[in-house]
Amino acid sequence: MSRPIIRSFFDEPTNTVSYLVGDPATRKAAIIDPVFDYDHSSGEVDTRSVEAMLKAAEDAGNTIEWVLETHAHADHLSGAPFIKARTGAKIGIGEHIKDVQRIFRPIFNATDLKTDGSDFDHLFRDGERFKIGELDVEVLYTPGHTPADISYKIEDAVFVGDTLFMPDYGTARADFPGGDAHKLYRSIKRLLALPSETRLFMCHDYKAPGRDTFAWETTVREQRENNVHVRDGVSEDEFVALRQARDTKLSAPRLLLPSIQVNIRAGKFPPAEANGVRYLTIPVKLKGGAQTCV
Ligand SMILES: [Fe+2]
Repeated sequence: MSRPIIRSFFDEPTNTVSYLVGDPATRKAAIIDPVFDYDHSSGEVDTRSVEAMLKAAEDAGNTIEWVLETHAHADHLSGAPFIKARTGAKIGIGEHIKDVQRIFRPIFNATDLKTDGSDFDHLFRDGERFKIGELDVEVLYTPGHTPADISYKIEDAVFVGDTLFMPDYGTARADFPGGDAHKLYRSIKRLLALPSETRLFMCHDYKAPGRDTFAWETTVREQRENNVHVRDGVSEDEFVALRQARDTKLSAPRLLLPSIQVNIRAGKFPPAEANGVRYLTIPVKLKGGAQTCV
């Protein structure tokens, strides 16, 4: 078995980890879950994070063949189109992204949005296998956080997206539209049935209480023994009760609305309006007495 060369890139403003995964034999590589730098107060988008990944790839002599998304993220904008434009890499995501597009199209009144996944270059199905150079990749459908999450098993390393967090932090929320705590539990159990030394790479870290450094790599064994939400012995019903109770207390991610409407378009912004400017949409929800003000 080849062992992939894995470089991680942590984006502290969004607590996101992106990865550059390379084949040591051929230097072919993939970038997983890249971040576009976005300032919500000014609307400015920048390329520092993706440029850093591309520089690392260039220094390592990598050819980027894929940008692999684990799901349509709700906490950062994807840098996938920039990487595609610079390298010719294909953008892949799970085939159930079509469900996510169908859910959010009416929410944003995004009449231009296609809901057939065709903004992406490839839609992965569960169990699909492909190669990055000589590295074997297997796609595992791991829904629950969203209806479309997939994990990428690249030899002995699995990029789990937002199914799991580090053992001391637990699991991702399952209350987004189409999310399902029952499905999340089953997806996690599927991942944790892999060999115990399998390396697991998280998409986020928020530092659990008592831990003062960020971390994003763990193993199946560590998760099974120590995950505060789903260690061995926690039943599906226990997990679902815990997850749902926690989710009711969580507020919407800061970049939820900008992120989703960009990421369901494979990272592209909505089309420019007549004045040549692209706008992001914020659906306004009038609550209580606010309804009488308009
Ligand atoms: Fe997410």
